Amino acid sequence: MDIPMYSVISKRPSDCSDRELQQFVKLVMAGGEVAKGLPGRVQKAVSLVMLLNGDALVGTAGLKRPETGYQSKVFRRAQTDKAPGKFPFELGWVYIAPDHRGGKRAKPLIKAAVDSSEGVSVFATARQNNEAMHHLLTNAGFVLSGMPYASQQNAGQKIVLFVKDAPGGKAAGPAV
Ligand SMILES: CC(C)(COP(=O)(O)OP(=O)(O)OC[C@H]1O[C@@H](n2cnc3c(N)ncnc32)[C@H](O)[C@@H]1OP(=O)(O)O)[C@@H](O)C(=O)NCCC(=O)NCCS
Repeated sequence: MDIPMYSVISKRPSDCSDRELQQFVKLVMAGGEVAKGLPGRVQKAVSLVMLLNGDALVGTAGLKRPETGYQSKVFRRAQTDKAPGKFPFELGWVYIAPDHRGGKRAKPLIKAAVDSSEGVSVFATARQNNEAMHHLLTNAGFVLSGMPYASQQNAGQKIVLFVKDAPGGKAAGPAV
């Protein structure tokens, strides 16, 4: 029997089929993302990155266009000295289905999302105790910024802010 191969593809949402978008949303929700407004946020992302095992979607990442209010709140709560306006994109939706973890597949997933930023600075948040994610973000060129702050979604957990400052800091282009 053939063992399905893994592959990573990165697409603009406008280049995705309805089925791809639905499956992306479904898997991101399996990772615990708040469902409210998620399809809309997925549709306006810069890029959607998919880890496929054969034809099956088993992992996601995305380069998001964060809402200004949400982003300002994150930067304020992290007490960073960085200006939120300098970081127009957010790396997020990093999720690999449990059966497919531990195979060093997160790095290419994250790299594909970051590469789609094309010179625009990016931020990301992670739980303070998510050491694997801290390792992956640091390897992708992100640095910790500011202080841990309390999660509003999960009581007792703390969140940290990471930033990847692109030299020259290009402005973000319009959504397509
Ligand atoms: C985070 C997640 C995508 C990682 O995927 P994975 O398949 O488990 O991880 P990989 O095998 O690709 O790579 C993990 C990397 O972290 C490293 N790592 C794992 N545990 C670690 C730890 N406790 N401390 C430091 N590094 C660690 C591994 O060595 C590996 O690094 P390497 O590729 O440089 O050797 C996956 O665990 C997941 O989906 N978790 C739930 C969702 C989540 O937490 N998403 C992040 C939201 S911010």
